[in-house]
Amino acid sequence: MLDFSTTAQTRKSIREYLPEPLSRAELDAVLQDALRAPSAVNAQPWVLHIVSSDALRRLSEKLVAKFRSGDVKADFIYDQHAFTGVYEDRMRDSYQRLYEAFDILREDKAGRKSFAEENARFYGAPHAAFFFMPDITDNVFTALDVGMLVQNFMLALTARGFGSVPQIALTYSPDVVRAELGVPDNYKLVLGVSFGRPKPDSAANTYVQPRAPQSETVVFHE
Ligand SMILES: Cc1cc2nc3c(=O)[nH]c(=O)nc-3n(C[C@H](O)[C@H](O)[C@H](O)COP(=O)(O)O)c2cc1C
Repeated sequence: MLDFSTTAQTRKSIREYLPEPLSRAELDAVLQDALRAPSAVNAQPWVLHIVSSDALRRLSEKLVAKFRSGDVKADFIYDQHAFTGVYEDRMRDSYQRLYEAFDILREDKAGRKSFAEENARFYGAPHAAFFFMPDITDNVFTALDVGMLVQNFMLALTARGFGSVPQIALTYSPDVVRAELGVPDNYKLVLGVSFGRPKPDSAANTYVQPRAPQSETVVFHE
């Protein structure tokens, strides 16, 4: 098991996987750590669905079809056009690095579209986790609670040598996911996370997204 600093420093989004699934014991160990995440008033306002094997293949087919149809409507709006200034700069830089890692040229629209579709194929991962939350008040703090769970989950995976990628793209067709997994309508889909064993020697898995220097994002007061 990796120590905390190594885990935090080496966790990164993994977009190429080996097909071998985690064992149930491995999944349970990850979940036991993840579920220690804090939440406001300890309400633990989340339900986590782990999808694998045939259920994952069925869901992927439906999500790919929806993605191609363009007929998608997420529970929550995520408008990338709203990012301006330094946030837009960082977003553009991250896309450029991502496409470079996958050898996709900026002007290759079709290549970018088919790469985006890989989200709905879980980037070849043997598992996906879908994070739902009850629809409560304005959802901000419950979403924050779920975010803590997601990060615990991803770090618990990294610490054990597994990998993951958080995906807003997996929330674009929440009705399909709810129907497939038998989730009631009053549970909103916050995020999907594909995960499994990282494919070794994958160029796509070895590139690193940088972070802004601490001086840009942290302010000290004394
Ligand atoms: C809330 C959230 C949503 C994301 N959605 C996607 C997604 O839909 N598809 C994808 O490939 N990556 C997605 N990512 C991964 C980010 O691109 C990635 O975390 C960021 O570029 C930093 O890189 P790193 O995770 O390798 O450190 C998402 C990350 C977060 C935190």
